[in-house]
Amino acid sequence: MTTSINIIQPDDWHVHFREDEMLKVVTKYSARVNRRCIAMPNTSTPITSSNQAINYKKLIESNSHSLNFEALIPCYLTDNLNIDDFIYALQNKIFIGGKLYPTNATTNSQYGVNDIKKIYNIFEIMEKENSVLLIHGELNRDDVDIFDREKYFIDEELYQIRNTFKNLRIVLEHVSSDYGVDFVNSNQNIAGTITPHHMLLTKNDVFKNEEINPHHYCMPVVKNEKDLLSLRKAACFDNKNFFLGTDSAPHHTSDKVQYKSLKPGIFSSPCSIELYATIFEEENALENLERFSSINGPKFYGLEINEEYLHLSRKNFDLPDYTEEGNVRVKNFFSDKKINWNVS
Ligand code: DOR
Ligand code: ZN
Repeated sequence: MTTSINIIQPDDWHVHFREDEMLKVVTKYSARVNRRCIAMPNTSTPITSSNQAINYKKLIESNSHSLNFEALIPCYLTDNLNIDDFIYALQNKIFIGGKLYPTNATTNSQYGVNDIKKIYNIFEIMEKENSVLLIHGELNRDDVDIFDREKYFIDEELYQIRNTFKNLRIVLEHVSSDYGVDFVNSNQNIAGTITPHHMLLTKNDVFKNEEINPHHYCMPVVKNEKDLLSLRKAACFDNKNFFLGTDSAPHHTSDKVQYKSLKPGIFSSPCSIELYATIFEEENALENLERFSSINGPKFYGLEINEEYLHLSRKNFDLPDYTEEGNVRVKNFFSDKKINWNVS
């Protein structure tokens, strides 16, 4: 049995650091193992300008408790961006790309894009600048079942974006379905991030024994066994088009346990790489972990691969139920389950 592994230091290509006290508490958990993180721009006031991005990057890095940690910021795309500032920020690497949130698909997406055709001019700019389009790929419409939102988005929007902007690099974020995996694998210039929770949970873990577990409520919602298996296969084996993105999304516990306005999101950064290692081990694919966690991401984004290494050893990880500091109290994902790996 393998008892220790050394991997090139990972990066997390999809994390939510939030703001204020929450940011001060959660950032160090991502920085403890990752060298770089993409910090999602769906803050309460979305990050849409170069100035906001510069300030947000500084704020995150200064709260990381690490000297070489880097936060990479995508622009929150809207149909009223200042185009000159957007181009300036892409050309000067202030924005790593642009993130598309279809309206009302998830937390703070009310400022997102309702009619995606209206921002095709922005996709054209991004293609020309050789930038990356990150997509929350869900269509939220009354006639679309919540479990089919990813499929509908692919069918009604993504195929068209893909075919119109053939050279635009696209990341389908938090791929959650068998259908999404197939789409990524059968198209050019597209990659997908995969979260630990979509490889560990099915809808039975949300609705079980007449009890709903709000801590497992996230967007996209977790789906069926078939989807989980397809995601595990994509991450652990044929993984050249997939890389690590936890979508670690902390919410105050009080926002997770209320009856109405329940916030979607799972906080996994205190045990992120440990969870991925546990999953890869279950699949007998530990030798492929490094490619997924540390190589495919920088290759897709056109960045250098990290130089440092991270060492993990086989030992039960004792994770408290909550991350608690000051007024912040967030449920730690998977604290009641077995995690086999520790960072040494
Ligand atoms: O579950 C989620 N939470 N999914 C997202 O896409 C956003 C995130 C958040 O910001 O809370
Ligand atoms: Zn997210």
